[in-house]
Amino acid sequence: MLKKSGLMLTCAGALVFVGVLVAAGCGGGGPNTPPVSALSTAAQFAALLPSPQKAATKVGATACKPCHATDCTSQALTRHSQVSVDCESCHGPGSVHAAKPALTNILRGIDSTNPIVCAQCHSDVVNDFKKSMHAQVVTSAISSSSATCMRCHSDPFRTLNVESPLAHGQTPAQVDAAIVAIPAATLQTYPPATHASVACAGCHDPHQNTANLTSDKEQFYLRAATSSTDLSSDPPAATPAQYTTINHICGSCHNNRGGDPSDQGLGTGTSRPAVHEGPEYNFLNGNGGAEGITTTGGSIYASGTTAPAQRTSAHVAVPDQCVTCHMPNSRHTFTVSLDTSCAPCHTATDAAARENTIQTQIQNGMAALRARMANWAATVGAGGFKDSTGIAWEYSGNIPATVVVPKTPTWQSQIPIEIKRARHNYYLLLLDRSYGVHNFVYAQYLLNQSNVGLDKYVSRSVSIPSSRAAVKAQLAADYEKAKMSHATE
Ligand code: HEC
Ligand code: HEC
Ligand code: HEC
Ligand code: HEC
Ligand code: HEC
Ligand code: HEC
Ligand code: HEC
Ligand code: HEC
Repeated sequence: MLKKSGLMLTCAGALVFVGVLVAAGCGGGGPNTPPVSALSTAAQFAALLPSPQKAATKVGATACKPCHATDCTSQALTRHSQVSVDCESCHGPGSVHAAKPALTNILRGIDSTNPIVCAQCHSDVVNDFKKSMHAQVVTSAISSSSATCMRCHSDPFRTLNVESPLAHGQTPAQVDAAIVAIPAATLQTYPPATHASVACAGCHDPHQNTANLTSDKEQFYLRAATSSTDLSSDPPAATPAQYTTINHICGSCHNNRGGDPSDQGLGTGTSRPAVHEGPEYNFLNGNGGAEGITTTGGSIYASGTTAPAQRTSAHVAVPDQCVTCHMPNSRHTFTVSLDTSCAPCHTATDAAARENTIQTQIQNGMAALRARMANWAATVGAGGFKDSTGIAWEYSGNIPATVVVPKTPTWQSQIPIEIKRARHNYYLLLLDRSYGVHNFVYAQYLLNQSNVGLDKYVSRSVSIPSSRAAVKAQLAADYEKAKMSHATE
């Protein structure tokens, strides 16, 4: 299923490669060489070097060993080392630094996390990566220099303060404590230096073989495991941890950030959806929805509600989970292609047909649930308050200023729990954005549970937008509202 990408070698590396790799030669031209100037990558790498290092020359890997024994010993065991990718390939020439060690004369820190370091040889992977959303940043999440947001939204912050310490044997608790102690002035250096949400060294350990192999037993130096069906780290109603300990390369960021779906949790967080963008990990594993649980962390179901008979669809067991569908042939755009992502289980035609059927069903189901909540708001309302536009079911932060409603905690506290569960599940489905593909079973369960709850107040007879396009437009508008509400948290 995997395909090795071609490698581009540059003059700057001055490395001796064996076999076919040599054929690529200086200046590119090998069959796998993408149309990118080797010189320009080399020039960009040279530009990263701090000024005292610009005149330095190579001294060889053994020169680093007396002072950096740990990194040298572990790096020597890698495939990189076998093909002469050594310390200076990534940190630049070391003569000046080895003669007079200092932090100012070697490529390090934020600059070492730049994808240009890897682009010297992996230019095709980097080119794909640059097309991905991961190569972009969510400005609102990093502009405040909040360590909480930067854990997932700033590649240099995460790589240097979360992933590297973990790779050096620190525990999540130690990582958390160290992050809390970072001075404000240091935190402020990350936003201007952050050009990616997550980049190469955020997912790949540059110094060692790791224990996290792919399902094909490939050693790709992965920081975390690619697959996990272990639900114990985030049961329904789990409280948010500062640093998530989910050992899953995608799940460590694409999770619901601890948004509490218990009835108690839904009663307190009423200004915006409790779940963060991208709860796909939880959704795939069948948790994170409002199931009528009345005790935080417990499993006591409220009257009229039951646990799902089954939480997951067949997709929880797709080898490598997210990676198989979002990185077909190890492609680093992180986008799905129905012909390659879904093989060998579905043909492209079968996958497209199934996706269309499921997404139509779930999107229409969401539109109907939304219409029922709007009918409740317009005809029943909280504490007798009705709003003719049907918006009073919403989180207070999602209600436009033009709508005159008593946006007080008292009013939110009068919204019945059945509405709160339904709106939580509506937004969870919306933020997952696969509309049933990730986990049809759980999507269906949450819609059913929500509808049963609403039966107490409103009839099931509703009208939804008349076309598929109109349904999608309504969902897209609500998705924008959710994003805006998280941008200002
Ligand atoms: C004589 C000992 C010595 C040698 C040889 C040496 N280093 Fe260092 N290196 C140090 C010391 C000491 C520091 C920390 C300097 C400080 O904190 O001021 C350091 C820092 C670094 C850092 C930055 C670490 C950080 O915390 O960001 C990198 C990267 C590095 N060295 C790479 C190399 C490489 C690559 C080589 C071989 C070309 C090398 N060093 C050779 C002693 C050495
Ligand atoms: C494939 C590229 C690559 C190679 C090869 C490499 N490094 Fe690094 N190194 C990085 C990156 C990227 C970082 C920053 C992220 C991190 O700390 O893991 C880094 C960080 C460091 C640091 C800072 C603290 C730490 O250990 O994380 C030191 C010291 C260091 N490298 C030394 C070395 C030495 C010595 C070698 C050779 C044995 C080496 N590196 C080989 C890419 C590389
Ligand atoms: C100087 C060239 C060079 C640099 C710089 C470099 N690599 Fe590599 N990398 C290679 C070569 C050569 C291989 C081995 C390919 C093979 O085995 O066919 C490789 C293999 C890998 C592999 C294993 C995949 C495989 O094909 O077995 C990963 C993952 C990887 N590199 C990631 C990185 C990352 C991340 C960086 C930057 C931090 C980086 N590399 C920097 C040349 C480089
Ligand atoms: C646990 C990891 C994590 C943390 C912590 C986190 N986010 Fe996010 N955030 C994500 C992921 C993953 C996405 C993208 C999900 C997707 O595209 O499906 C995202 C998306 C967003 C978006 C919408 C993206 C867009 O295109 O506009 C906003 C806004 C946002 N985050 C703000 C924040 C803020 C503000 C904080 C800090 C208070 C924060 N995030 C903390 C993981 C996190
Ligand atoms: C969000 C996490 C993530 C990021 C960011 C990322 N990778 Fe990967 N990478 C992976 C995973 C997961 C695999 C294994 C894919 C598979 O099993 O098919 C992989 C595989 C690879 C491979 C081996 C397969 C191949 O194509 O030869 C290389 C090399 C590689 N990555 C380099 C890079 C480089 C260079 C960057 C930066 C541009 C990067 N990666 C960014 C997660 C990531
Ligand atoms: C360090 C945190 C982090 C990790 C690890 C991570 N992501 Fe992301 N991901 C994000 C953020 C943040 C965004 C949103 C970026 C933006 O909107 O600019 C995102 C966006 C995406 C998107 C695009 C969503 C859109 O809006 O179109 C996909 C798909 C995706 N990630 C899949 C994955 C997969 C698959 C993995 C594992 C191989 C993974 N991510 C690992 C943080 C992460
Ligand atoms: C069975 C295949 C499959 C698996 C497994 C899978 N996804 Fe998806 N994912 C999809 C499909 C299909 C879509 C909808 C894409 C579309 O409609 O264009 C999607 C949508 C998304 C989106 C919304 C962005 C977009 O491209 O529309 C994100 C983000 C995402 N998935 C992340 C993940 C993460 C993280 C995991 C692992 C926890 C994961 N996915 C597991 C197939 C999968
Ligand atoms: C590792 C195998 C595997 C992969 C890869 C895979 N699927 Fe599936 N998928 C299954 C199985 C097994 C079923 C259940 C079959 C049945 O019930 O007929 C299924 C069912 C589905 C369903 C029905 C609803 C559900 O979730 O059970 C849809 C829709 C679907 N797949 C879409 C996709 C798409 C789109 C992709 C690629 C992006 C994909 N699948 C990738 C194995 C896979």
